[in-house]
Amino acid sequence: MTGTARRAMRLGVNIDHVATLRQARGTDYPNVLQAAYVAADAGADLITVHLREDRRHIQDRDVVLLRETLPIPLNLEMALTAEMVDIALSVKPDWCCLVPEKREELTTEGGLDVTSQQAQIKAVCKQLQAEGIKVSLFVDADEAQLRASQACGANAVELHTGQYGDAKKHDQHGGTAEAQELERIAQAAQLAQELGLGVHAGHGLHYHNVQAITEIDVIQELNIGHAIVARAVFTGLDQAVREMKRLMQRA
Ligand code: PXP
Repeated sequence: MTGTARRAMRLGVNIDHVATLRQARGTDYPNVLQAAYVAADAGADLITVHLREDRRHIQDRDVVLLRETLPIPLNLEMALTAEMVDIALSVKPDWCCLVPEKREELTTEGGLDVTSQQAQIKAVCKQLQAEGIKVSLFVDADEAQLRASQACGANAVELHTGQYGDAKKHDQHGGTAEAQELERIAQAAQLAQELGLGVHAGHGLHYHNVQAITEIDVIQELNIGHAIVARAVFTGLDQAVREMKRLMQRA
């Protein structure tokens, strides 16, 4: 770091898996809005939710209520479908992040293929931006995808860090897969910035691999979900058991 102050990297907290827990039991808790407020109080710069086509976690109502009440910006991840574009145009989140979506996948598996859908993506960017919604495209760290994203008029790209997250520090041949992935992301981030795109990143980031990504100065925002919600189980479990035990002792 030089003498100039370093710009703070924004943290988008993805709260999808709070909704996953709720949907698993069909209860009205844990409350997604409450999770968003706690995250905001703890320093989250924005809240990210993915309204999937199968509605496996976040529901339409969650998105509406978050939009109406959140004190920080809302980033809506969504597939490139007419249904999702209509929802975004009516809810008007601060950001839309366009992601590829397959029904059978456990989570978003790869970046959006912008090069092969350029005309459609450009039209959707225009439609959303006309309503004041900024658009990011979730893409792999690939030059052609970045150039196509710029040509579509996107405000930003979100670089897919999933392969970095999956990479072992050292593979069986003694290679450094993680370092190579990191370098690929750093180069893509630099190019995205040179193309005038906002630079976001996310997917598969956790407490043991995030630091190296934060060293990539040109990245402005990280979106992180699974690791934070998973960590919250353990930072909160002790207290949760104690509270239940206390109630039982009173009874
Ligand atoms: N960014 C995008 C575009 C995603 O699809 C996801 C997963 O929903 C994330 C970030 C967050 O990934 P993770 O849950 O692995 O932190």
